[in-house]
Amino acid sequence: DWNMPDYIGEAVEKIRAQVGTDDVILGLSGGVDSSVAAALIHRAIGDQLTCVFVDHGLLRKDEGKMVMSMFEKNLGVKVIRIDAEDQFMGHLAGVNDPEQKRKIIGREFVEVFQVEAGKLTNAKWLAQGTIYPDVIESAGKGKKGQTIKSHHNVGGLPETLNLKLLEPLRELFKDEVRKLGVALGLPHDMVYRHPFPGPGLGVRILGEVKKEFADLLREADAIFIEELRNTPFEVPHVPGIDAGKAPLNWYEATSQAFAVFLPVKSVGVMGDGRTYEYVVALRAVQTLDFMTAQWAHLPHALMGKVSNRIINEVRGINRVVYDISGKPPATIEWE
Ligand code: XMP
Repeated sequence: DWNMPDYIGEAVEKIRAQVGTDDVILGLSGGVDSSVAAALIHRAIGDQLTCVFVDHGLLRKDEGKMVMSMFEKNLGVKVIRIDAEDQFMGHLAGVNDPEQKRKIIGREFVEVFQVEAGKLTNAKWLAQGTIYPDVIESAGKGKKGQTIKSHHNVGGLPETLNLKLLEPLRELFKDEVRKLGVALGLPHDMVYRHPFPGPGLGVRILGEVKKEFADLLREADAIFIEELRNTPFEVPHVPGIDAGKAPLNWYEATSQAFAVFLPVKSVGVMGDGRTYEYVVALRAVQTLDFMTAQWAHLPHALMGKVSNRIINEVRGINRVVYDISGKPPATIEWE
């Protein structure tokens, strides 16, 4: 367990030595990693950092508002918010393949950065929240020699961007990134949020991405997360075991939890009428390293409440299912 203030001091010195008087541009995604990277780099070089927050229309509910208030209002970080929903949706229209979708989302990010970087003439560096497990998994090859998944935030920087790469979290594991975030003054709830993939809801809407699907998924996902946070985690009393560090609620008791949009319709009944609407799958896993994971044994009462709320509150969803697949052989995300 290393000493956090010392670590911050060293990391700050390293960043200063690396970038000198150059400006740095960072893509803020709303996830834990890029947020902690932004806070660390801002601590090191202040206004030499400009964050670009791309709203690609594939963010979670209210995520944009939260990111802007935390960084711009609370920390005084320069943030440029770009509403690129139409651009992303346009390029994703008609595309079904998961890796193709990742490539498009990654490519559009680079496009947006290129435009912003062009405006910041002193910008020489692109900062990214790449952490150690990203580095490992992206280097991993499947049995047939293909990359298992292309994480768009790792190593995909094309030469055309003409920026050097600044990755101050490259050697850190997730728990270290979180401790660092808290030490840098980020809110506990934000830093202990579950990880969120760069392509966002783009890989949680199976097949073709549509704004209509993203809107339904955002609502369903927010209900699931709210109920996880509001349901206490009952710790079995074991004599002699300190329950002080036990999770307080089911959000804390899971490593990642989210809703997945299935673009298939099934029949339901509502009042005297028949419905024919979409399906949402709930995924909640527990894992230490995200390389293997088990599905969370959520209380039935919690699952029942989430299901009822989604079906009653989200017009367009009439069926909710729970994913009971472990990793391996399933992955955590559905795409
Ligand atoms: P899988 O689905 O491979 O996910 O079991 C393992 C972890 O990686 C996250 N993930 C991604 N993160 N870009 C990211 O930044 C991606 O394309 C991506 N795909 C998966 C996933 O959310 C989980 O935490």
